[in-house]
Parts: sequence; C-alpha cells; structure tokens
Amino acid sequence: MTVTWKRMCCVSKQARVAKCAILLILGVYLYLYFTNFWAETVTSYMMAALEKASPLDNGAERTLRSYQQLYVDVEENDLLLLEPSQTPPYEETQPEELPIFWKEHSEQDILKRKSRPMQNFSISDPYNHSDSNLNLVPLRVNLSEVDNFGKQAFPEYHKEVARLQNASQDDVTTAEDLTMLELFPPLSAESRAQLIFTMDVFVRACRQYGWTYFLVGGTLLGAYRHHGLIPWDVDIDVVVNGSNWREVRHVLGNTPGFTLWTQRSGVWRFYLSHLPKVESPSKWPFVEIYFFSEDDEHLWGLTNSLKYLMVDRERVLPLSTSRWEHLNVSVPACTERMVKTEFDVSRCVSHYMVSETEGFDVREPEGNVDCSRLYSVYPFVFRNQSHDTDIVVESRRIGQSVVEEVTKSVEPKLCQN
Ligand SMILES: *[C@@H]1O[C@H](CO)[C@@H](O)[C@H](O)[C@H]1NC(C)=O
Ligand SMILES: *[C@@H]1O[C@H](CO)[C@@H](O)[C@H](O)[C@H]1NC(C)=O
Ligand SMILES: *[C@@H]1O[C@H](CO)[C@@H](O)[C@H](O)[C@H]1NC(C)=O
Ligand SMILES: *[C@@H]1O[C@H](CO)[C@@H](O)[C@H](O)[C@H]1NC(C)=O
Ligand SMILES: *[C@@H]1O[C@H](CO)[C@@H](O)[C@H](O)[C@H]1NC(C)=O
Ligand SMILES: *[C@@H]1O[C@H](CO)[C@@H](O)[C@H](O)[C@H]1NC(C)=O
Ligand SMILES: *[C@@H]1O[C@H](CO)[C@@H](O)[C@H](O)[C@H]1NC(C)=O
Repeated sequence: MTVTWKRMCCVSKQARVAKCAILLILGVYLYLYFTNFWAETVTSYMMAALEKASPLDNGAERTLRSYQQLYVDVEENDLLLLEPSQTPPYEETQPEELPIFWKEHSEQDILKRKSRPMQNFSISDPYNHSDSNLNLVPLRVNLSEVDNFGKQAFPEYHKEVARLQNASQDDVTTAEDLTMLELFPPLSAESRAQLIFTMDVFVRACRQYGWTYFLVGGTLLGAYRHHGLIPWDVDIDVVVNGSNWREVRHVLGNTPGFTLWTQRSGVWRFYLSHLPKVESPSKWPFVEIYFFSEDDEHLWGLTNSLKYLMVDRERVLPLSTSRWEHLNVSVPACTERMVKTEFDVSRCVSHYMVSETEGFDVREPEGNVDCSRLYSVYPFVFRNQSHDTDIVVESRRIGQSVVEEVTKSVEPKLCQN
C-alpha cells in the first residue's frame, strides 16, 4: 500500500499535489458510489423538498399531472426522478396515468417505493443444499388427477351457441347475441383441467412449505366474481413471498411431471412438462408466479412486471380465503376493494388470443359487455348480506341454478377507508 502510494504520488515534485488530489477525490467518489451514498442522498433531498413544496394528501383523483414538478414519465410503470426545473420529456403527448394502486398513496410512499430494489434473483446459482431450509421433503403429486378437473366444460355456453346458430340468422338480436358469445369462448376442457390441476399442485406446495401467497390481477377478479377461473381466461397469476424464492425454485423445480421456468427479474411459470412444445420459451397453460416484498407499512410487487402493485399491509394481511373452483385459496383481506380499484367488475372483458398451440399471445381487448349478458352461460357469484350481521352469503350461480353457496364474514371496516 505504502509503496504504491509513494510511486503514484511522489515521483515528480510538480505533479505531486495535483495527482494526490485527483486520486483522493476519485477514491472518495468511488467509495460513496459503491456504498449507495448518492442514491440515498438524492432520495432524502427529494423527500425533504417534497414535504416543503406540497402538503401530502391521499386524494384518489390524482393523476400524473400533479406530480410533474418532481417525477414523471411512467414508462413501463417506472417513475423517473426529474429536477423540479426540468421540462418533462413528453410535452406533446398526454401524460400517462399513474399505476392505479399508486394513486392512493402519498408522494413519500411512492418515492420510497421507487427507491426499493426490484427482483434480481441469482437463478443460475446451483441448488443450495447446505441451507438447512432447503432440506425439504419433495412434493408428492399424482399426475392422473388431472382427469378429475376436466368435467366442467360449460355445457350451458355450448348449448346456447348451438341454439343461436340454429335459429334464424335473419333475426338481428340472434345474430348479435351469437357474435357476442363468440367473443367469450371458454377454455377447452383439456386446457382447463391442466390449468386447474397445476394451480391445485401450486396451492398444495404453498401450504406444505408455509409460503405466503395470494391471488392478483385477473385471477383475483375471477375468485371474487366467479369463485374460480374467469371462464374465458387463459392463465393464473399468483404472488409469493419473495423471501421464499429459493425454496419455491427448489420445490416446484423438483416436482415430478412439472417444469418451473425461472427468470432473474421477470415472472416465473409453472406448468406440466408433457405439454406440447410451442414457440414461446415456456409451455402453456401455466400458473404465473410473481413475488412480493414488504416493510412495516406496505406490500409491493418485487417482480418487474408487477411493479404496479403497492398496498397497505392491513389491506392484505391477515389473508382471507376465497373459494376458487374446488379449492380454498389465499386472497387479500380487502379483496373486494382491491378488485374494484383495478377493475370495473360489472364489465366482462375478453382478450384476443392468437392460438392455444402457438403458446399464448394475448392482444387487445376484444369482447367488452355488461356481465349480465353472460349470466345464463357462465357461473357468477352473487352476494347477499343480511341486515345487522357481518355475514355474507356468496352464491355461485349459472342462470337460475345455484352451483354452490359459501358463507363468509364481511371484509374488515378498514377496507373502506
Ligand atoms: C443483480 O445482481 C447481480 C449480482 O447477483 C449484479 O451483478 C447486478 O448488477 C444486479 N442487477 C441489477 C439490475 O440490479
Ligand atoms: C445458500 O443460501 C443462503 C441463504 O439461503 C445464502 O446466504 C448463501 O449465500 C447460499 N450459498 C450458496 C453457495 O449459494
Ligand atoms: C392417482 O389418481 C387417480 C385418479 O384420481 C386414482 O385413480 C389413482 O388411484 C391415484 N393413484 C395413487 C397412487 O394414489
Ligand atoms: C336445429 O333445428 C332443427 C330444425 O329446425 C332441429 O331439428 C334441431 O333439433 C335444432 N338443433 C338445435 C341444437 O337446436
Ligand atoms: C415472508 O418471509 C419472511 C421470511 O420467511 C418472513 O419473515 C415474513 O414474515 C414473510 N412475510 C409474509 C407477509 O408472510
Ligand atoms: C374450504 O373451506 C370450507 C369452509 O369455508 C370448508 O367447508 C371446505 O371443506 C374447504 N374445502 C377444502 C377443499 O379445503
Ligand atoms: C338475501 O337473503 C334474504 C334473507 O337472508 C332473502 O330473503 C333474500 O331473498 C336474499 N336475496 C337474494 C338475492 O338471494
């Protein structure tokens, strides 16, 4: 060390002072750079500026415009931090909306969210057998059970389509109804059985190993509105405790008959290994596994494509249970609120899908109707809360016939705040 220092600093009298100074500055800068000093300083500076500039409120109506002074540009749900004086980079275009779940949080919370690291798992590491937590009993599965889940292929839907096809096509209403129904085709019985079985195995793994998970996105909407898969949906989205990613990889990656497709920063996919090969790097149908992270106040999406998720802890925990096909699955404490924040539950929306066999490629929304138009062909859940009790009866019906009734407690009061 001393030798190096002497050689670098003291060879020439003239350059000595300048060289020493440059090296010192560089050294200090690099030290601060690697200790993350700058990022933290900038964030705390911004936070302090924010507190002075605008009183914090949680108005739900807030759009990106009100944030322009400080940080804008929600490209891919990311926020760029800009100097207050800087001009936003998209002057001609309409500013995008903030991700819906971010709107109900204060600027400080959003900044905090922004400063958190995203998912960056070292998935190429070999399985770590020295870690005693991973000394896990393998999951037992019986692959023939997939046949138990293919029975319900929505006969009401197919009967109604056949009836309309058979009826006089001169009737405008008939033609319209038929066109509408054809925009909401159910998953084939086979794919549906594979998807539900895969979910069954995933849920069993979470229970056996004690991983916290819950449904998100369209899958949560399905649990709320249909007590199962949305009949015309093609995949399942779940989010698992990010602290458990190594165990998830170890267990699901070693489950006989199944493949776990993992990515460093992206979503993981879990599916039956024997499915036909497709163009996409994974096979289909799959359960998509995202991860969450947490602190004392919030839970948020750790996986890049789940960036939009940020919720108060007490809106999620303690988790509630929802009926989902034949299973009881974990859902957030404030499921109704979360679903209604993200979706208009009275509208049924379907997406154009290229082909089941080419992998799956969801494009623009296609069908978009008031759900009541589908009540007679698909199961929907109707809720009935009797006066002065905290009990809700959730009744799953197709048309007039009740498929199943489940009794539940109403959601906690704090969900309404
Ligand atoms: C992810 O972690 C690796 C080390 O495991 C690091 O080299 C890399 O820079 C990180 N990437 C991001 C985007 O943080
Ligand atoms: C084994 O796992 C532990 C935590 O799960 C981790 O800290 C450690 O670095 C891992 N070792 C190897 C060799 O991957
Ligand atoms: C596997 O599941 C099938 C279908 O449910 C059942 O008939 C069979 O007995 C099961 N096999 C074992 C070993 O449990
Ligand atoms: C279609 O119409 C024909 C005669 O009009 C009738 O015999 C047949 O049963 C109908 N099929 C359905 C599925 O309604
Ligand atoms: C996530 O896992 C960590 C480590 O096991 C645990 O401390 C934490 O409580 C878990 N979080 C939830 C919400 O279950
Ligand atoms: C699901 O929960 C209900 C109670 O809400 C219980 O009666 C039923 O046995 C559970 N079913 C399964 C498959 O765990
Ligand atoms: C709701 O429950 C009450 C009694 O608990 C019953 O009289 C009423 O018919 C139910 N309504 C619906 C739509 O099921």
